[in-house]
Amino acid sequence: FGMMSYDPGYLNTASCTSRITDLDGAKGILRYRGYPIEQLAERSTFLDVVYLLFNGELPNAQQSTDWEQRITHHTMLHEKTKRLMGGFNYDAHPMGVFISTVAALSTFYPDAKDVNDPETRMLQACRLIGKTPTIASYAYRNSRGLPYIYPDNELSYTGNFLNMMYRMVEPRYQAHPALERALDVLFILHADHEQNCSTSAMRNIASSKADPFVSVAGAAAALYGPSHGGANEAVLNMLREIGTKDKVADYVKRCKSGEIRLMGFGHRVYKNYDPRARIVKQTADEVFEVTGRNPLIDVAMELERIALEDEYFVSRNLYPNVDFYSGLIYEAMGFPMEAFTVLFAIPRTAGWLAQWMELMEDPEFRITRPRQNYQGYGERNIPNDYRA
Ligand code: CMC
Repeated sequence: FGMMSYDPGYLNTASCTSRITDLDGAKGILRYRGYPIEQLAERSTFLDVVYLLFNGELPNAQQSTDWEQRITHHTMLHEKTKRLMGGFNYDAHPMGVFISTVAALSTFYPDAKDVNDPETRMLQACRLIGKTPTIASYAYRNSRGLPYIYPDNELSYTGNFLNMMYRMVEPRYQAHPALERALDVLFILHADHEQNCSTSAMRNIASSKADPFVSVAGAAAALYGPSHGGANEAVLNMLREIGTKDKVADYVKRCKSGEIRLMGFGHRVYKNYDPRARIVKQTADEVFEVTGRNPLIDVAMELERIALEDEYFVSRNLYPNVDFYSGLIYEAMGFPMEAFTVLFAIPRTAGWLAQWMELMEDPEFRITRPRQNYQGYGERNIPNDYRA
């Protein structure tokens, strides 16, 4: 162990240098390439934000149009992918299907193995951004026994996704523009978040020069856990379990006793309000104007009110995080609860890929290979009566 530093959970260890996302947890600040998340959510689009994350600058009008075409060029999935996805049971969790299908894409694009070539890297990154909504919608339609809907590149990124999800019969399902925009804003908010668990997994896997499809699948697997992206689904489960406002106080008591955690609360880095949660809450109001109010919002707001006045949560700096209100929006838009974490994975794929491209260009690039604090046996001999 000697001179090695030991930092379980990496509370105080930087794993890389990065120029992509700046997060100040004490001040509640989040910026992509220097631009505050609030400005991006208000004035930009998800695809422009992907451009920003990948290239370092926001696109001008022409670059934005070209970029959109470049991404939508890749929205189709190989026909054989459908057979793979159709092999899953109806009740297969969409995240399991998503992770498996993204990993399977590696077998369709052997050129992705050339991870040392910058042009190849950008091509695979664009492929993944184009295909993730298609995979997510096919997973949903398979679970409902519905036919798959091909991508429609005349529609916006989120409009096309909603169309592939919900179109039942002709004429074309028309997403409400306010819902299309709300989903785009949620995608912007989820696009990157520096060295979180899944992004660290991405860098870790890719540091062995594994291709981006299997690396993204591994990152998505890390996201699946309820302490990370799986929290949005867990929050809705929790709100349904509580059911009504008058049950909130009892539930909070159980959280304080350590029996359960208040899902959608707390963050490793934010010790002040999560700036994304604030925007999600505003977006919820806009969505509910179209869809009608999700009654569970009252339970959520009561939970927040009680928790923010409670010494237990205040002293530990536990505030609502991005996952606290997002599930209520997704539910109001008609997404099934199991799909919520996939709705996190689609935009976060952009962050994973931006961080991967940065890693591959890093002059300090090395395979990730931490050491350990060994506390097991010293040398000992196998007993003579072994297997006697
Ligand atoms: N409910 C109740 N108590 C909590 C919670 C919570 N949600 N989160 C932390 N605590 C307590 C914890 O028990 C500990 O108390 P004590 O000091 O008395 O032992 C203290 O706060 C510090 O907790 P920690 O586990 O050391 O904090 P961490 O930085 O390792 O964990 C976290 C961060 C996000 C995993 C945790 O806050 C949590 O489990 N939250 C609920 C799950 C969740 O909402 N996750 C989404 C995170 S944001 C988006 C994303 O990453 O996907």
